[in-house]
Amino acid sequence: MSSITIAIDGYSSTGKSTLAKKLAKALNYVYVDTGAMYRSVTLAAMQAGAINNGKIDRTKLKSLLKSVEISFQLNEKTGNGDVILNGKNVEEEIRSLEVSKNVSNVAAISAVRKKLVEQQQQMGKGLGLVMDGRDIGTVVFPSAEVKFFLTASPEKRATRRYKELLDRGDNVKYADVLKNVQDRDYIDSHREDSPLKKANDAIEIDNSDMGLEEQLERMLSYTKDVIELQ
Ligand code: DC
Repeated sequence: MSSITIAIDGYSSTGKSTLAKKLAKALNYVYVDTGAMYRSVTLAAMQAGAINNGKIDRTKLKSLLKSVEISFQLNEKTGNGDVILNGKNVEEEIRSLEVSKNVSNVAAISAVRKKLVEQQQQMGKGLGLVMDGRDIGTVVFPSAEVKFFLTASPEKRATRRYKELLDRGDNVKYADVLKNVQDRDYIDSHREDSPLKKANDAIEIDNSDMGLEEQLERMLSYTKDVIELQ
């Protein structure tokens, strides 16, 4: 079976990473969560004092970027890749609402995108790959053989995210989570560099009223057809 690149883009909390992980597992492909990379840079910036009350010190962030090292390491318990920031496993820390509040503004900075996109393109070389994010089908791998674009209503997405945060014990309000989802949608799709948008050749899936299994089945069946034709 030949190895192809599968790009999964879409709005926040549309279940991109859950589906991407399952798809990668079913095909025995490598999975890369690019959101985790932007979240890691954001965490590093917060820890270094380059972000204060949402305000980014760009000079500090740009100089910090040189020393930021991001990699993934297999977590034997979950079977997924955990993100490692400068040698430390930050998989849990990067999912907080605090990081979510800052990440879209960090991801709008071209120097950040340049560094991470270059790394993402290297990570995908010669592999059967599933990569999810906002610009995978448009910028990182414009010639990916399979592209999906996921959407759902902001309320459905906020409800999913809210449950996830409560499950991990975070003390959050639904209204704050909904606002964060809406703010990120706006910033991600209006930034100048690589805004979130559907690639012309991507298949759009609105999963507001669709279960995980049904989506996975559709995505897998389409992908297998494409692989057959390679
Ligand atoms: O997928 P996520 O919610 O973990 O992504 C976090 C943020 O990172 C998202 O609001 C926008 C940014 N991002 C991006 O700009 N480009 C990507 N390829 C992935 C994420």
